[in-house]
Amino acid sequence: MATQETSQLERELGELLDVERFAPPESFRSGALWNDPKVYEEAEADWQGWWARQAEELLDWAQPWDTVMDDSDPPFYKWFAGGKLNASHNCLDRHVAAGRGDRVAFHWRGEEGEERDVTYADLLRDVQKLANALKDRGIGSGDVVGIFLPMIPEVVVAMLACARIGAPHNVVFGGFSPESVRERMEFSDAKALITVDGARRKGKTAPIKSAVDEVMGDLETIETIVVVRHTGVDCELREGRDVWYHEALEAADDECPAEPLDAEHPLYILYTSGSTAKPKGILHTTGGYLTGAAYTQRYVFDLRPDEDVWWCSADVGWVTGHSYIVYGPLLNGATSVMYEGAPDYPDKDVWWSLCDRYDVTLFYTAPTAIRACMKWGPQYPERHDLSSLRLLGSVGEPINPKAWLWYWKVIGGGRCPIVDTWWQTETGSILISPLPGITEAKPGSATVPLPGIDAAVVDEDGQEIGEGQGLLVLRRPWPSMLRTLYREDERFVETYFSKFGPRTYLVGDAARRDSDGYFWVVGRIDDVINVSGHRLSTAEVESAIVSHGKVAEAAVIGQADEDTGQAICAFVTLEGDLEGTGDLESELREHVAKRIGKLARPKRVIWTADLPKTRSGKIMRRLLRDIAEGRELGDVTTLRDPGVMKDLEGKFASDGDG
Ligand code: WT7
Repeated sequence: MATQETSQLERELGELLDVERFAPPESFRSGALWNDPKVYEEAEADWQGWWARQAEELLDWAQPWDTVMDDSDPPFYKWFAGGKLNASHNCLDRHVAAGRGDRVAFHWRGEEGEERDVTYADLLRDVQKLANALKDRGIGSGDVVGIFLPMIPEVVVAMLACARIGAPHNVVFGGFSPESVRERMEFSDAKALITVDGARRKGKTAPIKSAVDEVMGDLETIETIVVVRHTGVDCELREGRDVWYHEALEAADDECPAEPLDAEHPLYILYTSGSTAKPKGILHTTGGYLTGAAYTQRYVFDLRPDEDVWWCSADVGWVTGHSYIVYGPLLNGATSVMYEGAPDYPDKDVWWSLCDRYDVTLFYTAPTAIRACMKWGPQYPERHDLSSLRLLGSVGEPINPKAWLWYWKVIGGGRCPIVDTWWQTETGSILISPLPGITEAKPGSATVPLPGIDAAVVDEDGQEIGEGQGLLVLRRPWPSMLRTLYREDERFVETYFSKFGPRTYLVGDAARRDSDGYFWVVGRIDDVINVSGHRLSTAEVESAIVSHGKVAEAAVIGQADEDTGQAICAFVTLEGDLEGTGDLESELREHVAKRIGKLARPKRVIWTADLPKTRSGKIMRRLLRDIAEGRELGDVTTLRDPGVMKDLEGKFASDGDG
């Protein structure tokens, strides 16, 4: 029976593979917020006016702006200069003032099945108290506050409390190691850190505060550590520096008026990997970022705050969580689901049981997750009623058509449009995506730029390619763009605005345009690996591997992987005549987990006596990629020692096909 059903599903999916376009289902289209393509023309006719209209309609301003966009010093663009507003006011106060304080902001579900509904009034109460507690400890406008928390409502309170007093937050994903946290606190000169006693993952508890203490002890810039009590695991609080979150809230005053801040006041820093070992501190500011988050949340996802239940399954520690768990939904006054646990705990149907339980209407996840669900099989979603769903979203990496079709059929029941949303930490919000009531989807393509956005594919000289593959660029500023790399203006200009000048943003992705003008993002052009939609730099992983005492040299590449999109493959040369063993391989993987985080562990380690290098000593990763993916080797004549490749080829073949 089961096999019969599977084969029927497979047959149906096989037939769908031939369908090139999926028009918005009529039932969706007719009721969509936007179903007239004229929005594209309107935006093109006056793009600055278009953004001004969005900023005005979607946000509450304490003081109107003088200039929509100031481009007098490119690429340092300013949006809504002269205007004042507060992010926390826009996310909370205005909804409470309008009588919606009792609306649930988050249906929170803990890993062990606990449920907690947090309303807008609850958030506003706690945010004011925490803001006051931070102020009492000398934290004010411009002071950076680190946040290292799991998926619990306190993380939202922490972010908005910072925003309320103009202290830029610097959230570190809970899966990163304490050493990464320390590094990010150091780079940003953070004055305080908000963290947790322990975190839960698949039924186990991991101590967090004590692990953080091990590396943070001597970092003097951190004057305050606020600790949320979550698992109850033991930890020490250092007198004079550390304080329990609940005690700090209890002691703090109730009222903390939201300060009107300049539109260009820094809202947050978020570190992401670049092409060197040092992560980049992406800086977002207030007015423009909030405009982008609110706009895309509403129109890309067709969000009706009074009726919809939204769920973005990302972690709040990534930009997706910032824009589509915190700012986008709250700015729009939406009700969301927030889940603490992993998608397969307690069982592989937990996501679908939550969709059923809370009547989720809009669901946003990553291709990696969809592929995992595919592998687990349709019996898990089939256990639950998913008929409340009306739209599905995808983000983080190109989605392969097979996964797209499975999502469409098995999760969406063939009635939900899918929005494949392309964007980056740097862009702050979605830039290329279908509008679900307008755009015909093609599985695997993020389709076309949103109204207001000017994207193009160009050749090495910056000439636009009408049809074909090249470099993806953005030819005009947009409100939620990064403003700089924190304390590294030069690196900002060099990374994004040197190849084609200060008015053309170099994305770092290769893309193809088809004859309909649709964009197909192919992947990164730099040394960045995308593992399960998470960005890692080869240099960062290499430097972690090389820091192991037994390693002489390492080169890391991204290898195509059917589960995670790309997987990390490390070529390692050992010191002296040490031999590579299985034990050493495990040791290296653990070492990388400790330095960066589990997600950076190489899936594959290949021992090699030498690495392919040019005469000037540069490692030729291109050749390693060819080897790892079983391709014919490219040009090897520039190698110092072409024999290296022969050895490696043999090695790779004998290691099996992975
Ligand atoms: C890189 C940005 C955006 C939040 C999550 C990742 C890749 C992202 C798509 C998509 C093809 C995509 C790009 C981009 N990417 N979304 N829909 N289709 N590729 O944020 O860590 O800043 O990574 O992810 O390569 O440059 P990020």
